[in-house]
Amino acid sequence: MSGPVVVFGSLNVDSTSYVEAFPAPGETILAHGFQVALGGKGSNQAVAAHVAGAEVELVARIGDDASGEFALATLERFGLPTGAVGRVADAPTGVAQITVADSGENTVIVTGGSNLALTPDVVDAERSRIAAAGLVLTQGELLVDTIERIAEVTAELGVRFVLNLAPPAPVAAAALVACDPLVLNEHEARAVGIGTDAAAGTSLDEWRELAASAAGTVARSIVVTLGAAGAVAADAEGSWTAPAPRVTAVDTTGAGDGFTGTLAAFLAEGRPLAEAVRIAVAAGALAVQARGTVDSYAPREAVLRAAAELAA
Ligand code: RIB
Repeated sequence: MSGPVVVFGSLNVDSTSYVEAFPAPGETILAHGFQVALGGKGSNQAVAAHVAGAEVELVARIGDDASGEFALATLERFGLPTGAVGRVADAPTGVAQITVADSGENTVIVTGGSNLALTPDVVDAERSRIAAAGLVLTQGELLVDTIERIAEVTAELGVRFVLNLAPPAPVAAAALVACDPLVLNEHEARAVGIGTDAAAGTSLDEWRELAASAAGTVARSIVVTLGAAGAVAADAEGSWTAPAPRVTAVDTTGAGDGFTGTLAAFLAEGRPLAEAVRIAVAAGALAVQARGTVDSYAPREAVLRAAAELAA
């Protein structure tokens, strides 16, 4: 497997309010902090893969507005190429309104805006970029038709396809089955019929078995992230648990994207699934210890050091 990680990605500008506790419906509360930053699961994952050492090409859409300029400037600050980030005239750049409570938990509301211009036609227009990719990555924030077209084109071209179905979206089973891996949190796993009856607190080992029974049927391979507990993975070769280190989470926003981007980067350089997942768990655990999304991703050396400590 060689060639860049090509991310067909959602891109938002995140407005994040930091609060003591979430407001109840109808309640007004005061925040104790505020931040505007690049977000969107796609651009977050592209930055995470880049920080993890992969060559990354991000295919995304921004609006012709100040948020779009801000997004481009942030991608350039990280050193990501922006040649495939197109500008659309008739929609604002995607936006996410985020609330982070002192517990580290968050709520996120996304307004798609220019992301909705990332249609199946764009996938067809990018066919040669896909053909040259080491791996193609996308997320549930894109249009379902676009995700399904990416699955078709990657299958036709024999390129590895990684889908993070976040948030859950009604993607056809024929598209899911090509995913290698399909990356899900436990809610997303239930949405595709994995662990439907698994109660909160189900152990890593039980989730490993659930992933193993879905590998080869729901998707070629499966990764389930389980927050502070870690992650599990399964493919045709076997199934694995990857426990997370104990850390104090200050902001979980984008930690799943840090995990997924890191996973894609290490799969693209040829690491086996079990090893890539263990490294991605270390990346996710580092990300929750800092505020924000793209600015919370630790560099490759720090992630590999943390993964080695975890294995020791
Ligand atoms: O996963 C976190 C991301 O979800 C945020 O950056 C926000 O933009 C939404 O896409």
